[in-house]
Amino acid sequence: MSSKIAVIGYGVVGSGTVELFEKNKAQIESNIGRQVDIKYILDLKDFPDSPYADRMIKDFNIILNDPEVEVVAEVVGGATFAYNYTKALLESGKSVVTSNKELVARKGAELLKIAKDNGCNYLFEASVGGGIPIIRPIYKCLAGNKIEEIAGILNGTTNFILTKMIREQMSFEDALRQAQENGYAEADPTADVEGIDACRKICILGSLAYGKQIDPDKIHCSGISKIAMEDVEYADVAGYVIKLVGVVKDTENGKISAMVSPRLVEKKHMFSHVDDVYNAICVKGNGVGDAVFYGRGAGKLPTASAVVGDIIDALKHKGTHIGVHWDECGDDFLLPRADEESSVYVRVKGENAESMKSAFSSMFGKLIFLERAGRPDTELAFITPKMKESEIDANLTILSHSVTVESKIRLL
Ligand code: HSE
Repeated sequence: MSSKIAVIGYGVVGSGTVELFEKNKAQIESNIGRQVDIKYILDLKDFPDSPYADRMIKDFNIILNDPEVEVVAEVVGGATFAYNYTKALLESGKSVVTSNKELVARKGAELLKIAKDNGCNYLFEASVGGGIPIIRPIYKCLAGNKIEEIAGILNGTTNFILTKMIREQMSFEDALRQAQENGYAEADPTADVEGIDACRKICILGSLAYGKQIDPDKIHCSGISKIAMEDVEYADVAGYVIKLVGVVKDTENGKISAMVSPRLVEKKHMFSHVDDVYNAICVKGNGVGDAVFYGRGAGKLPTASAVVGDIIDALKHKGTHIGVHWDECGDDFLLPRADEESSVYVRVKGENAESMKSAFSSMFGKLIFLERAGRPDTELAFITPKMKESEIDANLTILSHSVTVESKIRLL
């Protein structure tokens, strides 16, 4: 008996999926216990020189209407075509595996329900952390825990850029270009740089951990485009590095707090050693304590590793729904950003900045003033005590009447 699969999208992840599958085909078939073949690869572009040119198609309906196709890898990305394709495939009882974090974050609840109703599976290990196993550990291995918090460096591109800027003083533009050449960045790298990709990923992890769909548009998200070398220098002297971190956690009042933002991470914290394209995710459970997952968070073969793993799982579970789900339930379970408590690093510029230290302190309470080599008198950087974000914002508004607030970065 032989099983047929199809791949939708022959970009970085799609071509990696085909490459890895063909490379390890014999081992995969022995694992599943039957022959498995890629029957179709769907892409609108032509690949006449590809060794798989004979399997390339442009019409989605060929896959949908072929009863031989059991599992489809949707690695095309986006939430329009991919949504229509995935919905139709699941409704027809074919399992879908994906690296598409945008679609899982936005439509996960609905698509998981369709999979359940049709006795098939929607698997998305590749949607978070590239090659790092994190989805299955949360819903399987750690299912006996109440998840208290998940924090992670979730975007390979921005971590690569920050590492190059900090370690090699490479310009932001050059570092981004290298990330694109390495196949890490999104088609539109704004999604990486502005934290949108990491936001989708923390929403997926939070939805999985807390059983409620967390809408990426409903949580605070900021990226790294406004980080200046001055901030990197102040952080360094004070014993921190800057990382883009997503955090989702259960709060005391029963609300879920979720956000993505750059953070000052203490140099002794393990996240400070997560460099280049690597991601790290720390899951805190009330039984396990801290469990940390680390590995390549983006790139062709690491992401393909997760996609192929899901293909195997889907083939092995033919006819059985693996009970992963979360519910759509509005957003009143989310803690408003104004109620979050944070300690923040602030950098201001202005004629009288140096002379305003005591005025700033009387506003915020005890401040830690930071130094960097060559700090001009017109610049001040400080770390506030932990306080409500609404209070911090109010203070910064008052402050902005006398100085320009150049940066505000939360501490982890
Ligand atoms: N653009 C993403 C990243 C790809 O850089 O992490 C992996 O999801």
